[in-house]
Amino acid sequence: SQRTFSIVKPDAVRNGHTGAILAEIEKAGFKIVAIKKMSLSVEQAEGFYHVHAERPFFGELTKFMASGPIFPMVLEKDNAIADLRKVMGATNPANAEEGTIRKKFATSIGENAIHGSDAEDTAAFEIGYFFAGYELK
Ligand code: GTP
Ligand code: MG
Repeated sequence: SQRTFSIVKPDAVRNGHTGAILAEIEKAGFKIVAIKKMSLSVEQAEGFYHVHAERPFFGELTKFMASGPIFPMVLEKDNAIADLRKVMGATNPANAEEGTIRKKFATSIGENAIHGSDAEDTAAFEIGYFFAGYELK
């Protein structure tokens, strides 16, 4: 099986959707390997999203990610990276398929409820950014 990294983003936590999102994730067959509640500084959000540093929305994105508590987590199942992206739906909720987490819970392209790693190398970086090895048994 494979591990991926996910975050319940500040909008979803604020709007009271954390439990419902975790239920969708478990219903889709993922095991929650590790999870915690925390808040990011803008600097920590910039480090996490460094691949987007040149995008025009980088300032807005990092300010939003630091705007309130989040739930970072490590998830495991066969084909976890691609399968989580399917369960999440498109980045912009207006384009997300019916039944996806972003269709149900996202507000806008910026405030889109959930993050999921997009490849094996980014998943490894993101897991290591938030969790120590001893938390990943
Ligand atoms: P993540 O799982 O969060 O990485 O989303 P994604 O992989 O579906 O999208 P991408 O990596 O391309 O963009 C990262 C994040 O930047 C998105 O989840 C959005 O929150 C944000 N984002 C992308 N495009 C825009 C935009 O045009 N405006 C704003 N404000 N945010 C954007
Ligand atoms: Mg992405």
